[in-house]
Amino acid sequence: MLKDKTIVLGVTGGIAAYKAADLASKLIQAGAKVEVVMTEAATKFVAPLTFRAITNRPVVTGMFDMASEWSIEHVSLAEAADIIVIAPATADIIAKLAAGIADEMILSTVLATKAPVIIAPAMDVNMFENSVTQENIARLKARSFIIIETGYGRLASGKVGRGRLVENEKIIGTVHMVLGCKGDLAGKKIVVTAGGTEEPIDPVRVITNRSSGKMGYAIAEAARDRGAEVRLISAAHHQPDLVGMKIVRVHTAVEMKEAVTKSLKGAHALIMAAAVADYQAKKVAKEKIKKTGASLTLELVQTPDILGEVRGNFIKVGFAAESENLVENAAKKLQKKQLDFIVANDITDASSGFGVDTNKVTIIDSKGKADRLPLMNKREVADKILDRVVKKIK
Ligand code: PMT
Repeated sequence: MLKDKTIVLGVTGGIAAYKAADLASKLIQAGAKVEVVMTEAATKFVAPLTFRAITNRPVVTGMFDMASEWSIEHVSLAEAADIIVIAPATADIIAKLAAGIADEMILSTVLATKAPVIIAPAMDVNMFENSVTQENIARLKARSFIIIETGYGRLASGKVGRGRLVENEKIIGTVHMVLGCKGDLAGKKIVVTAGGTEEPIDPVRVITNRSSGKMGYAIAEAARDRGAEVRLISAAHHQPDLVGMKIVRVHTAVEMKEAVTKSLKGAHALIMAAAVADYQAKKVAKEKIKKTGASLTLELVQTPDILGEVRGNFIKVGFAAESENLVENAAKKLQKKQLDFIVANDITDASSGFGVDTNKVTIIDSKGKADRLPLMNKREVADKILDRVVKKIK
């Protein structure tokens, strides 16, 4: 999605400047063209050569930097930008931006651009919490700059608090979200489920399955990057939060049903990639069940069939992970749960289904037409599913 996008990366002078090298590298790997502009202070922390080697582009280090094709005509860099990211953004750069001062190349580029500007602050906790900085940040927010919340943790000063540069994944997620906000799902609300539910047996044991949540998270991310308002109901607790969406974390099928039902208000589509347990313990033991030497029988009762029971004016998409008779079994689930379409995973292929990054799926529609797709990464599968959702919505 970042292919053919020009990202101007402004690097300012703080210890977190070294993290901007990794950010530049990840943006390049995502397909973007990255033009780095450094303040003079930033060059004291990281050599411009580092960014030059990563981006394969000249690095702008000053207003009259003759080595750069952009240096004199700073307006053309501002015009070339699809988005500007300032990371890390120090307190003084934030103050200058808020005051409209443009004595650095990055500041004049921001003043001259019509592109969205993302600012990822990084500074010492006292500087960050100072009311002057907070007022400057508020002023920038009011002027439609996108400010990414700082992280909490250990700072270079040794203090612990707010002011850390957020992880690069969050910055990149924000870039995707901002660039995708006018995509083909803009104005649509999509509810996605992910992960394997956990049904407790006693205080320490659960019945669960091998779902990692990767498929559901890929759908949620792809929907966000196409402009949707996304609600992700997640039972995949080891998956990190994704920016730009509300995530409701659940454990059991009953909790998932409640969260899905609440989230469906105003939704255009429900996509259930979660592997929901079909059974739960009839009685959950209050204390840890002791080993007695004898065999143990657990009585299980069915969980609610979330997808089968929810009703409303939204597109219903299910998943089916099948080890035999893929299309026949998935088609039965589609009929029974009255779905618009179902995505059948072939889990006999080790590179498809649970836990892996790729999936080989067959998408079956309500008329029984089956479309077999080749092995793809889960993000590509997500986009194929969303292409169908878009067609159905329109
Ligand atoms: O999470 P990953 O590791 O990336 O793996 C992805 C996946 C293999 C888990 C996913 O792509 C997938 O196939 N999920 C569905 C697994 C399955 O076999 O579900 P099912 O046949 O039990 O259910 C069919 C559909 O009904 C599913 O959409 C399921 O979410 C839903 N369901 C199931 C049971 C239940 N009580 N309520 C439901 O809503």
